[in-house]
Amino acid sequence: MHSPFSQCGKAFQGITMSEYSYFTREFIWSALFMVGLSITWGVSWTLAYKPVIIVHGLLDDPDNYATLAAFINQTYPGTKVIIVDAFNNNNSLQPMWKQVKGFREKMLPIMRSAQDGVNLICCSQGGLICRAILSTTEAHNVQTFISLAAPQMGQFGGDPKHQARYRQNNDFLAVLNNETNNPLADEWKHNFLQIQKLILIGGPDDEVISPWQSSFFSFYDTRGRVVDITQQEVYVQDSFGLQSLDRRNGLVVCTVPGVKHREWVHSKRAFDECIAKFLF
Ligand SMILES: *[C@@H]1O[C@H](CO)[C@@H](O)[C@H](O)[C@H]1NC(C)=O
Ligand SMILES: *[C@@H]1O[C@H](CO)[C@@H](O)[C@H](O)[C@H]1NC(C)=O
Ligand SMILES: *[C@@H]1O[C@H](CO)[C@@H](O)[C@H](O)[C@H]1NC(C)=O
Repeated sequence: MHSPFSQCGKAFQGITMSEYSYFTREFIWSALFMVGLSITWGVSWTLAYKPVIIVHGLLDDPDNYATLAAFINQTYPGTKVIIVDAFNNNNSLQPMWKQVKGFREKMLPIMRSAQDGVNLICCSQGGLICRAILSTTEAHNVQTFISLAAPQMGQFGGDPKHQARYRQNNDFLAVLNNETNNPLADEWKHNFLQIQKLILIGGPDDEVISPWQSSFFSFYDTRGRVVDITQQEVYVQDSFGLQSLDRRNGLVVCTVPGVKHREWVHSKRAFDECIAKFLF
């Protein structure tokens, strides 16, 4: 007797009772097998998604990140997305090192419970906080660090209200960049280089980050021209790991035009082009 499955469309014609039960039995077993298989696949796919930790920016709070969390959930269903609830709104004006400590305390338990590591998306000022956490945290398990419209080389001018803030950020960056002869610079570089990839996202219509290429570690020279990342001291000296990361293809620059600073976390285009593929 041939298997009913060899003649799919004709299997029911002139079928005998014993053939019918054979068919039913085999069908049920196959169906159960397929269900089992898809559950197994489903589970392993879900486990393959690393948790995503989101760190917000200046005068910002977790509520602003619902769209981004939804984009992640749509693309990789079941991904654990944690928007760190700390230093919200006015509290984001507190000293940077204090925030680094506070955010780290909230992030460490998430990292510890993630066997395969975590991915970070850090927006604007959050990008500087995340960079500092990566440098100063031994044995973190961040795989991909996505720096979304963050003034990684500091900020020129901008909203006068925030100018003192930017100056403070620049002092903070000087330590991170080893411009202050930081005795821990080697250790911090080693820690930073535990990441696999750094994704730098920015664009010419940002209107807050100035120059907008600061999102890519580029900045003005003394004559006011924007100088590329590869000619910056931090890159040339490899003072915190940027050049090392680039040499092992761990540095990605992603430019998206037409996105204003406040719109980055709501931009589907930025998500599709610069974020989605790096979360897997
Ligand atoms: C993720 O999407 C599913 C359906 O697409 C929805 O049921 C679920 O609530 C979403 N989870 C989050 C955290 O948004
Ligand atoms: C905090 O934010 C509120 C608006 O949410 C503002 O009115 C207030 O002046 C701010 N306080 C400080 C100390 O910045
Ligand atoms: C940090 O700066 C000091 C002084 O310039 C230098 O000796 C040291 O090698 C630097 N460390 C790194 C990691 O670049």
